[in-house]
Amino acid sequence: MDPDDAVQNPEEKEYSSVCVGREADIKKSERMTAVVHDREVVIFYHRGEYHAMDIRCYHSGGPLHLGEIEDFDGRPCIVCPWHKFKITLATGEGLYQSINPKDPSAKPKWCSKGIKQRIHTVTVENGNIYVTLSKEPFKCDSDFYATGKYKVIRSSP
Ligand code: FES
Repeated sequence: MDPDDAVQNPEEKEYSSVCVGREADIKKSERMTAVVHDREVVIFYHRGEYHAMDIRCYHSGGPLHLGEIEDFDGRPCIVCPWHKFKITLATGEGLYQSINPKDPSAKPKWCSKGIKQRIHTVTVENGNIYVTLSKEPFKCDSDFYATGKYKVIRSSP
């Protein structure tokens, strides 16, 4: 996108990609945090793939950049350090285990609550990492902590 277009159209600016760091650095640290158009995000490098999402957990605003990554049902998830909610890195779905109360002998099954954490797009160009905020129009639970009065990062006056 032509940077001049972004300046003329503030809505477009919000969705323009932002350079957040160097590929060599995130490959070493395996995660980094960034502010992209006043939105706090965390970027993970896990098994050769990049994933970006809102940094505050959709449940109560926990710091996802301090969580551990573990596989559940074969899907890599960030485990929120506050109450251990599991969020898939690839899609932002909240996972939980359920059992059939009518069949107590049944094994607990992993289920999805749907997309709870907003996922953003990561691209790599010339060794630099860029994040483009999600334009998906649906209301995502993590928006609550990424915008409005619970937002940690404030726009500069
Ligand atoms: Fe993340 Fe509660 S704040 S699990």
